[in-house]
Amino acid sequence: MNTERDTDKIYEQPQSKITPFSFTDEVASVFDDMARRSIPCYAQVQDAIASVAGKCYKYNGVIYDLGCSTGTSLYNIARRLQSNKLKLTGIDDAPAMVKQCRQKLGQFNLKGQIEILQGDISNFNYTHAEMFILNYVLQFISPDKKPVLLDTLYRALPKGGVLFLSDKTIQETEQLNTLFTDVYYEFKVNQGYSELEISQKREALENVLTPCTDKELMGLLKNAGFSSMEIIVKHLNFTSIVAVK
Ligand SMILES: C[S@@+](CC[C@H](N)C(=O)[O-])C[C@H]1O[C@@H](n2cnc3c(N)ncnc32)[C@H](O)[C@@H]1O
Repeated sequence: MNTERDTDKIYEQPQSKITPFSFTDEVASVFDDMARRSIPCYAQVQDAIASVAGKCYKYNGVIYDLGCSTGTSLYNIARRLQSNKLKLTGIDDAPAMVKQCRQKLGQFNLKGQIEILQGDISNFNYTHAEMFILNYVLQFISPDKKPVLLDTLYRALPKGGVLFLSDKTIQETEQLNTLFTDVYYEFKVNQGYSELEISQKREALENVLTPCTDKELMGLLKNAGFSSMEIIVKHLNFTSIVAVK
C-alpha cells in the first residue's frame, strides 16, 4: 500500500538545474511506487521472475538478484518458494536500497539463507550461482562493461542455469522509436505523472541510461555464450528475456 510519503513526487516541482539521475535516498524511499508507475507490466514481470524461479531452481545453488533495489523480486521468490533449502543473494550499490531491501526481506524467517550486500555487481565473485536476475539494471551499466558482466554471469552459471534479464529498450528505426516513446509517455500520463515530471525525469536519465535494441540484447547474450533464449514479456519499450545456459 502506498502512503502519500511513498508516492514518487521527485520531479513534480520545476527544477532550475536537472542533475543526472541516480539512486539516492530520496529515490529509494519512493522506488516501489516509481517502478510500478514507470515500468509497463512491472507486476507481471515480477510474477514471471518468481514463476521462472519456481520452475527452474533446483535448490543446488544461489539465486542472485543483481541491482535488487528494494528487494521486490527477492520478496516474491521467497514467498513463492518457501523452502529451507532456498538461497538468495541480493546486491545493490545504493546504501538506501540495501537498507530497504533488508527491511522488506526481514519479515521472512530466512536466517542464513539470504544475504543482502552493498557492492558493485561488475566487481563481484559469483560463487555457487544457479540463477541470476538482472531486472532493469543492465541499462545502467556502461556499454563497454555490459559484455564483460554478461560473460561473468554466463561463466558463473552451471549448465541449465538461468538468467532473467529485463531492460528498457530502443527500437530498430527512428520512426518506431518515436512511436513507442510517445505511447510510453501516454502510459506515464495515465499513471498520474504530469508532462513536467515526465520531461524532467527524461532529461535526468539522458546519458545515464544506455538502452539496447532487443536484437542487441540477444546479441550480447549470444556473445556471452547463451544459446537458448527467448523474450518472455514485452510491452512497449521494455523487454524481459529468459536465457538458459
Ligand atoms: C531500476 S533499479 C532495479 C530494479 C529492481 N531490480 C527491481 O526489479 O525492482 C536499478 C538498481 O540497480 C542498482 N545498480 C545500478 N548499477 C549498479 C551496479 N553497478 N552495482 C550494483 N547495483 C547497481 C541501482 O542502485 C538500483 O537500485
